[in-house]
Amino acid sequence: MEETRELGRLRGLVAAARARGLSVGFVPTMGALHEGHLSLVRRARSVSGFVVVSIFVNPAQFAPGEDFERYPRSPEQDTALCEAAGVDLLYAPDAPDFYPRDFATSIRVAGVTEGGEGAIRPGHFPGVAAAVAKLFLRVQPDMAFFGRKDLQQVAVVRRLIRDLDFPVELVVGETVRDADGLALSSRNAYLSPEDRRLALALPRSLSAAKARAERGERDPRALETATRKDLEEAGLSVDYADVVDAATMRRPARVEPGTALAAAVRVGKTRLIDNVLLLEAP
Ligand code: PAJ
Repeated sequence: MEETRELGRLRGLVAAARARGLSVGFVPTMGALHEGHLSLVRRARSVSGFVVVSIFVNPAQFAPGEDFERYPRSPEQDTALCEAAGVDLLYAPDAPDFYPRDFATSIRVAGVTEGGEGAIRPGHFPGVAAAVAKLFLRVQPDMAFFGRKDLQQVAVVRRLIRDLDFPVELVVGETVRDADGLALSSRNAYLSPEDRRLALALPRSLSAAKARAERGERDPRALETATRKDLEEAGLSVDYADVVDAATMRRPARVEPGTALAAAVRVGKTRLIDNVLLLEAP
């Protein structure tokens, strides 16, 4: 595995892979890698000739007062995990190289960013979109791999690719969970054992909503109300619990295949998001 922080070296190695006829698969991350990230890497490995992973804790997607400074970082372990997973190139740019001091461009993807995380963290998706667009331009992948855990991010990236004609195929990986149901997240490291026990209400209430949808409940508001109540009764503070069409991120009139329930809660100082597809495609 090669590892670099330099754009010139990244470009050279990707060009050399292309010259050998290899397709380029790309998994962008912010590091503190876990099985969720690694499932995307394995997916990329299975369909790409050359696998690039980026690690960049993107300051532009954190608001002042959010957890940018204390975001978990584990560079040595990340390198070992990438090596073991068969990554070809680990790209970890420095912030001053990635964002020139007078960086002034923002990318606003309208529509899909109106609700959910977009409503609560207004600068978040412009920061994600700018980083993802720059990473796509730097790496020039054929395929990019994103996790469904960040449902709204997937909708944003899908729109970004379509609107700006990025020649990139988006592949979405399923959410990887711990044995107790909690979706893996680098931020789970913040949870005390007691917080973690409380946090389990999140996957539990989403599963309960899915079960109700499978039993025939088609009313988005009924599912939202029940989920919010479950979460609040478990002692969690609810930022949102929204039934959405996974492509548009708008509330559908009725639950149908492709409808998801996405929620964000706070447990102590930690913010967790999760979602579930309410009805599978027939
Ligand atoms: P990060 O949170 O590190 O996540 C990197 C990728 O891993 C994302 O596509 C995310 O959806 C996926 N992922 C995280 N947890 C997962 C899980 N439990 N199961 C499946 N996939 C999971 O998302 C970001 O970084 C950043 O916003 C980024 C796209 C890198 C832009 O800065």
